[in-house]
Amino acid sequence: MSRIGLFYGSKRGDTADAAEKIKEAFDKVEQDLVDVYNVKKVDLSRMQEYDKLILGSSTWEEGSLQMHWMRAISQMDALDLSGKQVAVFGLGNQSEFPTTFQTAMGTLATRARAQGAELVGRWPIDGYEFDETPAVEDGWFVGLALDNTNQYELTEDRIKTWVKQLTREFGLKE
Ligand SMILES: Cc1cc2nc3c(=O)[nH]c(=O)nc-3n(C[C@H](O)[C@H](O)[C@H](O)COP(=O)(O)O)c2cc1C
Repeated sequence: MSRIGLFYGSKRGDTADAAEKIKEAFDKVEQDLVDVYNVKKVDLSRMQEYDKLILGSSTWEEGSLQMHWMRAISQMDALDLSGKQVAVFGLGNQSEFPTTFQTAMGTLATRARAQGAELVGRWPIDGYEFDETPAVEDGWFVGLALDNTNQYELTEDRIKTWVKQLTREFGLKE
């Protein structure tokens, strides 16, 4: 059985692509470790099947969750995520939206924590240029920040590095 459930929302496909790349990177640790779900098509109660979760959203409309997450997020309020480890990732655009860069990732982290989850997978802010964002806590992004508009060439390496980090933090073999 898979041990990680990855739930994402994506409008134009950037977050969907990142989700697939994350799955592929975990396949190198162990085949089929990750089940990938588009939140447009799945009931979020499926999160309860996993001890380890990865949640991903792009940010839209100056700080909102991606549309399908917006519709689905209230389903999370009914879930008990205590005892689960949750990592978040996001897609955003730091140069055009410097004050709301990656806000949706911050929202996912807050909502997961509110349901009792332990957050893992924080990510350094070095190498990005933005103003303030709720996706940063104590000088770190709450999860993996990706920007395919301005830094597409870094996305693949960032994912590989983050998956190595998560492999350790999730307590999986490397
Ligand atoms: C109208 C519009 C609003 C956006 N608002 C934000 C924003 O507030 N913060 C941010 O970081 N990125 C913002 N973005 C950038 C998107 O999050 C980015 O293009 C992302 O890669 C889209 O991913 P998706 O195809 O998975 O939905 C916005 C993009 C558009 C076109």
